[in-house]
Amino acid sequence: MTHQFFDEYLASDFDISEIVITDNRIESGKIRPKGTKEWFPIINGIPRFLPSFQDNYTGNFGFQWKKFSKTQLDSYSGLSLSHDRFYDDTDWTKEELNGKRVLEVGSGSGRFTEVLLETGAIVHSFDYSEAVEANAKNHDHHSNLFLFQGSVYDIPYPDNYFDHVFCFGVLQHTPDPNESLRCMFKKLKTGGKLSVDNYPTAPKTVEKAKYPNARYREIRRVTSKWRPSVLFKVIQVYLWFWFPVDFLIRTRLPKKWSNLILYHLNIPCWNYVHTIKMPYKMLKQWAVLDTFDALSARFDIPVTKDEFEIMGNSLDPNSLNVKRAFNGYVLNLTK
Ligand SMILES: C[S@@+](CC[C@H](N)C(=O)[O-])C[C@H]1O[C@@H](n2cnc3c(N)ncnc32)[C@H](O)[C@@H]1O
Repeated sequence: MTHQFFDEYLASDFDISEIVITDNRIESGKIRPKGTKEWFPIINGIPRFLPSFQDNYTGNFGFQWKKFSKTQLDSYSGLSLSHDRFYDDTDWTKEELNGKRVLEVGSGSGRFTEVLLETGAIVHSFDYSEAVEANAKNHDHHSNLFLFQGSVYDIPYPDNYFDHVFCFGVLQHTPDPNESLRCMFKKLKTGGKLSVDNYPTAPKTVEKAKYPNARYREIRRVTSKWRPSVLFKVIQVYLWFWFPVDFLIRTRLPKKWSNLILYHLNIPCWNYVHTIKMPYKMLKQWAVLDTFDALSARFDIPVTKDEFEIMGNSLDPNSLNVKRAFNGYVLNLTK
């Protein structure tokens, strides 16, 4: 964060103290939302709004996004996956975001931060994990970005503050998706728009499923308790052998047979060969990343379309739409 950004966009809502500025950036110091008592440290240029008493369950994500800090960025992959998913699923336009105050919840290494920054919005983006450090390396040079570490349950802004709130790939990984949604909604202005997605329940096929098979949930129950570095090594080693076989099964056999075989073999391997057009090497890298993502997250709570609609309607929005989307379902509402 530059001092200029602070003065222009944050000074009315935050106090800072004991700051050290290097190359026009606030590198360290203390920050707190106005009207509150507790100071939070700014470390490596990133404010850390982390109450010390909370158990931070996102160590796996910090590990994951530091390891794969660029993998899913469009600017790195040369694809337009994040861009397309963003506009297809939110139904927002670049023009409506320009100059607006936007909150991104759970940014990871910033595949969607990149898309948001291109719109000319003033982007306030956070993640509960150390993934913010990966995102900072990727995007902190942008003058329209404020990046911080914090939790959706303690968003350090006044209520009714943002024109848009955006949250993809996160809700299912929070311990209480209902409450997470409510916390985001509170920060939205009247008339503002919220877009949030969630994994679907009851998947039927290997292709569409996040958890193709109930046994995956049993595997997860064990692996999500492992140290991230250990789980990562295990996945890296077995996918070195298994990914080429999985690839052959999916590409050489009729779909009906490959689905059946993979379903019964039940070896976790997120292979996107039929869903995303990308080179083999990249498919393999995405497979390691997403297999790790699936097996390591502490919380992973899918929803049905009806459940998602009920969650949204309980907020009493002005309008609400839940539709099938890349990640399962996306809930778009206006407050
Ligand atoms: C699967 S990643 C998705 C990251 C990014 N949105 C993307 O689509 O690439 C889920 C992210 O949610 C973050 N997260 C989980 N619980 C959170 C919370 N309570 N507050 C903010 N972020 C949270 C994790 O740290 C992780 O980076």
